[in-house]
Amino acid sequence: MKFFIDTANTSQIKELVAYNIISGVTTNPSLMAKEGISGTKNCHQRYIDICKLVDGPVSAEVISTDCEGMLAEAYELAELHPNIVIKIPMIKEGIKAIYELNQKGIKTNCTLIFSTNQALLAAKAGATYVSPFIGRLDDINVDGMELIKSIRTVYDNYNFDTNILAASIRHEEHVIKCAEYGADYATVPYALLDKLFDHPLTTKGLDIFLADHAKLNP
Ligand code: E4P
Repeated sequence: MKFFIDTANTSQIKELVAYNIISGVTTNPSLMAKEGISGTKNCHQRYIDICKLVDGPVSAEVISTDCEGMLAEAYELAELHPNIVIKIPMIKEGIKAIYELNQKGIKTNCTLIFSTNQALLAAKAGATYVSPFIGRLDDINVDGMELIKSIRTVYDNYNFDTNILAASIRHEEHVIKCAEYGADYATVPYALLDKLFDHPLTTKGLDIFLADHAKLNP
Protein backbone atom coordinates (compact mmCIF):
# COMPACT_ATOMS: atom_id res chain seq x y z
CA MET A 1 0.00 0.00 0.00
CA LYS A 2 1.34 3.39 -0.99
CA PHE A 3 0.91 6.50 1.14
CA PHE A 4 -0.36 9.81 -0.12
CA ILE A 5 -0.44 12.83 2.18
CA ASP A 6 -3.85 14.49 2.50
CA THR A 7 -2.97 18.18 2.72
CA ALA A 8 -2.44 21.39 0.76
CA ASN A 9 0.24 22.53 3.23
CA THR A 10 3.63 22.62 1.50
CA SER A 11 5.67 22.60 4.73
CA GLN A 12 3.99 19.37 5.83
CA ILE A 13 4.60 17.81 2.42
CA LYS A 14 8.24 18.92 2.34
CA GLU A 15 8.88 17.49 5.80
CA LEU A 16 7.48 14.03 5.11
CA VAL A 17 8.76 13.72 1.54
CA ALA A 18 12.26 13.73 3.04
CA TYR A 19 11.56 10.24 4.49
CA ASN A 20 10.76 8.81 1.04
CA ILE A 21 7.49 7.30 2.20
CA ILE A 22 5.13 9.64 0.33
CA SER A 23 4.04 8.64 -3.18
CA GLY A 24 1.63 11.48 -3.86
CA VAL A 25 -0.71 14.15 -2.50
CA THR A 26 -4.47 14.63 -2.29
CA THR A 27 -6.14 17.98 -1.79
CA ASN A 28 -9.75 19.10 -1.68
CA PRO A 29 -11.45 22.51 -1.56
CA SER A 30 -11.69 22.35 2.26
CA LEU A 31 -7.94 21.66 2.58
CA MET A 32 -7.18 24.56 0.20
CA ALA A 33 -9.45 26.84 2.26
CA LYS A 34 -7.66 25.71 5.44
CA GLU A 35 -4.45 27.07 3.92
CA GLY A 36 -6.20 30.36 3.10
CA ILE A 37 -5.83 29.81 -0.65
CA SER A 38 -8.54 31.40 -2.78
CA GLY A 39 -8.98 32.28 -6.45
CA THR A 40 -8.17 30.10 -9.46
CA LYS A 41 -4.71 31.61 -9.98
CA ASN A 42 -3.60 30.98 -6.39
CA CYS A 43 -5.07 27.47 -6.35
CA HIS A 44 -3.25 26.62 -9.57
CA GLN A 45 -0.01 28.01 -8.18
CA ARG A 46 -0.37 25.84 -5.06
CA TYR A 47 -0.88 22.72 -7.21
CA ILE A 48 2.27 23.59 -9.17
CA ASP A 49 4.20 24.13 -5.91
CA ILE A 50 3.02 20.76 -4.59
CA CYS A 51 3.95 19.01 -7.84
CA LYS A 52 7.48 20.40 -7.51
CA LEU A 53 7.78 18.83 -4.05
CA VAL A 54 6.49 15.33 -4.78
CA ASP A 55 7.34 13.07 -7.67
CA GLY A 56 3.91 11.41 -7.87
CA PRO A 57 0.20 11.96 -8.45
CA VAL A 58 -1.32 15.17 -7.05
CA SER A 59 -5.13 15.27 -6.88
CA ALA A 60 -6.69 18.64 -7.72
CA GLU A 61 -10.45 18.84 -7.25
CA VAL A 62 -12.91 20.52 -9.61
CA ILE A 63 -15.62 22.70 -8.14
CA SER A 64 -18.11 22.61 -11.04
CA THR A 65 -21.02 20.21 -10.73
CA ASP A 66 -21.93 19.93 -14.43
CA CYS A 67 -19.96 17.78 -16.86
CA GLU A 68 -19.08 20.67 -19.18
CA GLY A 69 -17.78 22.81 -16.33
CA MET A 70 -15.83 19.91 -14.83
CA LEU A 71 -14.19 19.19 -18.18
CA ALA A 72 -13.24 22.83 -18.72
CA GLU A 73 -11.64 22.93 -15.25
CA ALA A 74 -10.01 19.55 -15.78
CA TYR A 75 -8.30 20.55 -19.03
CA GLU A 76 -6.83 23.64 -17.37
CA LEU A 77 -5.67 21.67 -14.33
CA ALA A 78 -4.16 18.91 -16.45
CA GLU A 79 -2.04 21.53 -18.25
CA LEU A 80 -0.42 22.64 -14.97
CA HIS A 81 1.78 19.57 -14.53
CA PRO A 82 1.91 15.99 -15.87
CA ASN A 83 1.36 14.58 -12.34
CA ILE A 84 -2.00 16.31 -11.81
CA VAL A 85 -4.92 13.91 -11.28
CA ILE A 86 -8.39 15.42 -11.68
CA LYS A 87 -10.53 14.85 -8.61
CA ILE A 88 -14.18 14.57 -9.59
CA PRO A 89 -17.14 14.12 -7.22
CA MET A 90 -19.21 10.93 -7.42
CA ILE A 91 -22.30 12.44 -9.02
CA LYS A 92 -23.97 11.58 -12.33
CA GLU A 93 -22.31 14.47 -14.16
CA GLY A 94 -19.01 13.44 -12.60
CA ILE A 95 -19.29 9.95 -14.04
CA LYS A 96 -19.79 11.46 -17.51
CA ALA A 97 -16.74 13.67 -17.01
CA ILE A 98 -14.59 10.76 -15.80
CA TYR A 99 -15.47 8.79 -18.93
CA GLU A 100 -14.52 11.71 -21.21
CA LEU A 101 -11.27 12.37 -19.36
CA ASN A 102 -10.32 8.69 -19.45
CA GLN A 103 -10.91 8.64 -23.21
CA LYS A 104 -8.40 11.49 -23.47
CA GLY A 105 -5.84 9.75 -21.25
CA ILE A 106 -6.33 12.19 -18.33
CA LYS A 107 -6.17 10.54 -14.91
CA THR A 108 -9.05 10.95 -12.46
CA ASN A 109 -9.79 10.39 -8.79
CA CYS A 110 -13.49 9.86 -8.13
CA THR A 111 -14.10 11.34 -4.68
CA LEU A 112 -16.86 11.18 -2.07
CA ILE A 113 -17.36 7.43 -2.50
CA PHE A 114 -19.57 5.97 0.24
CA SER A 115 -20.84 2.73 -1.33
CA THR A 116 -19.54 -0.21 -3.35
CA ASN A 117 -22.08 0.56 -6.08
CA GLN A 118 -20.62 4.04 -6.47
CA ALA A 119 -17.13 2.53 -6.70
CA LEU A 120 -18.39 0.08 -9.34
CA LEU A 121 -19.85 2.89 -11.47
CA ALA A 122 -16.67 4.96 -11.16
CA ALA A 123 -14.56 1.97 -12.26
CA LYS A 124 -16.86 1.34 -15.24
CA ALA A 125 -16.43 4.99 -16.26
CA GLY A 126 -12.66 4.48 -16.18
CA ALA A 127 -11.61 6.28 -12.99
CA THR A 128 -7.91 5.88 -12.22
CA TYR A 129 -8.61 6.08 -8.47
CA VAL A 130 -11.68 5.94 -6.25
CA SER A 131 -11.64 7.62 -2.85
CA PRO A 132 -13.86 5.82 -0.31
CA PHE A 133 -14.28 8.04 2.78
CA ILE A 134 -13.79 5.74 5.75
CA GLY A 135 -13.90 8.22 8.63
CA ARG A 136 -17.05 9.96 7.47
CA LEU A 137 -18.83 6.57 7.36
CA ASP A 138 -17.61 5.82 10.89
CA ASP A 139 -19.05 9.22 11.87
CA ILE A 140 -22.54 7.94 11.00
CA ASN A 141 -21.94 4.59 12.73
CA VAL A 142 -21.27 2.63 9.54
CA ASP A 143 -18.04 0.61 9.49
CA GLY A 144 -15.95 2.41 6.87
CA MET A 145 -13.46 -0.45 6.70
CA GLU A 146 -16.14 -2.82 5.38
CA LEU A 147 -16.42 -0.55 2.34
CA ILE A 148 -12.72 -1.02 1.53
CA LYS A 149 -13.10 -4.81 1.86
CA SER A 150 -16.17 -4.86 -0.37
CA ILE A 151 -14.70 -2.66 -3.13
CA ARG A 152 -11.53 -4.81 -3.12
CA THR A 153 -13.62 -7.95 -3.64
CA VAL A 154 -15.64 -6.44 -6.49
CA TYR A 155 -12.63 -4.96 -8.28
CA ASP A 156 -10.76 -8.26 -8.00
CA ASN A 157 -13.80 -10.25 -9.21
CA TYR A 158 -13.83 -8.31 -12.46
CA ASN A 159 -10.17 -7.31 -12.79
CA PHE A 160 -10.88 -3.58 -12.70
CA ASP A 161 -7.63 -1.67 -12.72
CA THR A 162 -9.11 1.33 -10.84
CA ASN A 163 -7.04 1.92 -7.71
CA ILE A 164 -8.60 2.02 -4.25
CA LEU A 165 -7.37 5.19 -2.57
CA ALA A 166 -8.67 5.02 0.99
CA ALA A 167 -9.52 8.52 2.26
CA SER A 168 -10.90 10.26 5.34
CA ILE A 169 -8.49 8.26 7.47
CA ARG A 170 -8.60 9.27 11.11
CA HIS A 171 -6.49 6.90 13.21
CA GLU A 172 -3.79 4.22 13.20
CA GLU A 173 -6.21 1.29 13.11
CA HIS A 174 -7.67 2.65 9.86
CA VAL A 175 -4.20 2.56 8.30
CA ILE A 176 -3.56 -1.01 9.43
CA LYS A 177 -6.95 -2.24 8.21
CA CYS A 178 -6.51 -0.49 4.84
CA ALA A 179 -3.26 -2.39 4.35
CA GLU A 180 -4.81 -5.67 5.54
CA TYR A 181 -7.85 -5.31 3.29
CA GLY A 182 -5.80 -4.48 0.22
CA ALA A 183 -6.32 -0.76 -0.42
CA ASP A 184 -3.84 0.24 -3.12
CA TYR A 185 -3.26 3.65 -1.51
CA ALA A 186 -4.16 5.43 1.70
CA THR A 187 -4.22 9.20 1.84
CA VAL A 188 -3.35 10.19 5.38
CA PRO A 189 -3.26 13.59 7.13
CA TYR A 190 0.13 14.89 8.26
CA ALA A 191 -0.45 14.45 12.00
CA LEU A 192 -1.43 10.81 11.63
CA LEU A 193 1.43 9.98 9.23
CA ASP A 194 3.82 11.56 11.70
CA LYS A 195 2.42 9.36 14.48
CA LEU A 196 2.97 6.14 12.50
CA PHE A 197 6.72 6.33 13.10
CA ASP A 198 6.39 6.07 16.87
CA HIS A 199 5.78 3.46 19.53
CA PRO A 200 6.45 4.07 23.24
CA LEU A 201 8.37 0.78 23.48
CA THR A 202 10.65 1.85 20.62
CA THR A 203 11.48 5.07 22.49
CA LYS A 204 11.96 3.22 25.78
CA GLY A 205 13.97 0.41 24.18
CA LEU A 206 16.31 2.82 22.43
CA ASP A 207 16.86 4.78 25.67
CA ILE A 208 17.88 1.55 27.41
CA PHE A 209 20.21 0.46 24.58
CA LEU A 210 21.94 3.85 24.54
CA ALA A 211 22.22 3.98 28.36
CA ASP A 212 23.72 0.45 28.48
CA HIS A 213 26.19 1.35 25.77
CA ALA A 214 27.14 4.59 27.56
CA LYS A 215 27.89 2.72 30.81
CA LEU A 216 30.73 0.78 29.19
CA ASN A 217 31.74 3.54 26.79
CA PRO A 218 31.92 6.64 28.95
C1 E4P B 1 -9.16 12.98 0.41
O1 E4P B 1 -9.13 12.75 -0.76
C2 E4P B 1 -10.37 13.42 1.11
O2 E4P B 1 -10.83 14.61 0.56
C3 E4P B 1 -10.12 13.54 2.58
O3 E4P B 1 -9.39 12.40 3.00
C4 E4P B 1 -11.36 13.75 3.40
O4 E4P B 1 -11.05 13.61 4.75
P1 E4P B 1 -11.99 14.15 5.93
O5 E4P B 1 -13.22 13.32 5.97
O6 E4P B 1 -11.18 13.99 7.18
O7 E4P B 1 -12.28 15.58 5.60
